[in-house]
Amino acid sequence: MKPADSSPATIDRLAADTVIVREYLDRVGQPQVLDAAAEEQLLARIKTTMHANNARLVAHYYVDAKLQDLAESTGGFVGDSLEMARFGREVDADILLVAGVRFMGETAKILSPEKTVLMPTLEATCSLDIGCPIAEFARFCDAHPERKVVVYANTSAAVKAQADWVVTSSIAVDVVEHLMEAGEKIIWAPDRHLGSYIQKTTGADMLLWDSACIVHEEFKARGLLDMRKLYPDAAILAHPESPAAVLQIADVIGSTTQIIKAARNLPNKDIIVATDKGIFHKLQQVAPEKRFIIAPTAGNDATCRSCAHCPWMGMNSVQRLLDSLTAMSNEILVDSKLAERAMLPLQRMLDFAATNQLKVRGKA
Ligand code: 13P
Ligand code: SF4
Repeated sequence: MKPADSSPATIDRLAADTVIVREYLDRVGQPQVLDAAAEEQLLARIKTTMHANNARLVAHYYVDAKLQDLAESTGGFVGDSLEMARFGREVDADILLVAGVRFMGETAKILSPEKTVLMPTLEATCSLDIGCPIAEFARFCDAHPERKVVVYANTSAAVKAQADWVVTSSIAVDVVEHLMEAGEKIIWAPDRHLGSYIQKTTGADMLLWDSACIVHEEFKARGLLDMRKLYPDAAILAHPESPAAVLQIADVIGSTTQIIKAARNLPNKDIIVATDKGIFHKLQQVAPEKRFIIAPTAGNDATCRSCAHCPWMGMNSVQRLLDSLTAMSNEILVDSKLAERAMLPLQRMLDFAATNQLKVRGKA
């Protein structure tokens, strides 16, 4: 069992996360930066190959801007995790190219077993997925059989198969509220910050797993307060994977899509954003007249580990997308029994989302 922790355990986990990230980056490396002309050539080849194979690209807001633009210009989609899942299932395509992290590819495959799902790299994982190994998690669930198991989408197919519900950040509070009204007690995994935010917002009885996102966990409340002094009229928008002290200062808390909507609709000209800086591409597109400022990640020692960009999202590149498409490599495969079981809580989430109006939380 790995319940939410005391501080020494948190420090151990942070150190372990740092080692894990370094290991991945040493092995796979961040993509080579190409000059504009070379990149344009690759993009043209990808478009032709996608067209010939009836392929669509589904991308997350955190990946390379070129991949986001490519998705939108070829009948694909850019969105948050929930929207990516929905689009992937509904789009009429033989091949789904998923630019994001591995759980997004697995979700796409579970929801569309008949489609071939390819990713630019299979190494793009997530610290939350790594932090929730199935054997330990299954023991945790077995110890509390009276509780409903609600897991974040940022988990392996095996962890999803263990769950009653899968949720994404855009829908988590609403689902837990719904369960609480039905008198249910909850096991929540893996993100402890999102878990305690949901707990605080709903008052639900929740046992929290102890894992965190290496990107959001680095946002600093003290630095944010200093930043607010520099930009007194700015609105602060935060993803709920951020620490509680950051969320307390935020004007709006929401998923990536909810952050983008709030940035467009708020009257503020200056917007401070506590989420991965890959989102700035879309923010600038939807509100070009506004100034977007990344929330501070470096503490007093002026160092940061991820520096507001997910190293795994960063592994997605135009070159790697072309390589996987031409070689039909990096295919996502999910064991069919596991997929069948994981489909149940995923389907529950999609049905719930279809019948409920999702809200943006916050003071704004
Ligand atoms: P969203 O569902 O808000 O896009 O979040 C996914 C994610 O990985 C955030 O770090
Ligand atoms: Fe996982 Fe955090 Fe990266 Fe999102 S930003 S994929 S939660 S490590």
